[in-house]
Amino acid sequence: MEEISLNNLPKHIAVIMDGNGRWAKSRGALRIFGHQNGIKAVRETVEACAELGVGYLTLYTFSTENWGRPKMEVDGIMDLLVKTIGDEVPRLHKNNVQLKCIGDMDALPEKARRNMEKGIDTTKNNTGLVLNIALSYSGKWDIIQATRKLASAVKSGEMTPEEIDEEQFSRLLSTYPAPEVDLLIRTGGDHRISNYLLWQSAYAELLFLDVLWPDFRKSHLLDAVRAFQTRDRRFGKTHD
Ligand code: IPE
Ligand code: IPE
Ligand code: MG
Repeated sequence: MEEISLNNLPKHIAVIMDGNGRWAKSRGALRIFGHQNGIKAVRETVEACAELGVGYLTLYTFSTENWGRPKMEVDGIMDLLVKTIGDEVPRLHKNNVQLKCIGDMDALPEKARRNMEKGIDTTKNNTGLVLNIALSYSGKWDIIQATRKLASAVKSGEMTPEEIDEEQFSRLLSTYPAPEVDLLIRTGGDHRISNYLLWQSAYAELLFLDVLWPDFRKSHLLDAVRAFQTRDRRFGKTHD
């Protein structure tokens, strides 16, 4: 923690929490066992970000594409979600964390949606870390839903096509008002984005780690922030 420079923190960290299934398989267990064991890693990541003073943390929890998994796994994840949100909200609230959800909430089972809405309402006035849970989310979905809103605004005459710019567009993305992602971490060893925050990660520093999500601890998050602080972010410019 002492090696981290607090005036060069990523403002927005996004995580692709991958590797739960392999973690379970290597123990001869069902995939859901891996998802259950990923919760401690979520808790540690949230705590580390809150303690450091990171503004926004966006966790890829369930993608649009994940609906295509076997029903048993999808149902297991949804049940786990209902239980975990209920269990974790008091702790989040105590830590001044503001819970939010991004993604197609209408696609979620009623109980998961209601629990999430309750948690969002309980924590809505908190002023610390903003925790975005990406559920039934994909980057393309986000871009499409923003485009639909823009198209309606143009159709109704509220705005002209010429008024559409990056600023207007990003205001309609589900992560608004979070700034763009500074650091994108993927666990589980694969080197891909899997349709995550496509627009928002345009200039993110990417960090791919071999550690499987259930093994991810606070120390990994701190190491990731340290690695981020060694990166030379040029944003297309030169230094001299
Ligand atoms: C990530 O772990 C969690 C979700 C996608 C819900 P996986 O379930 O994808 O685990 P692996 O990649 O198969 O090990
Ligand atoms: C990405 O992991 C989605 C989440 C972590 C929620 P996946 O395991 O679904 O992605 P792929 O299949 O490796 O691209
Ligand atoms: Mg995976």
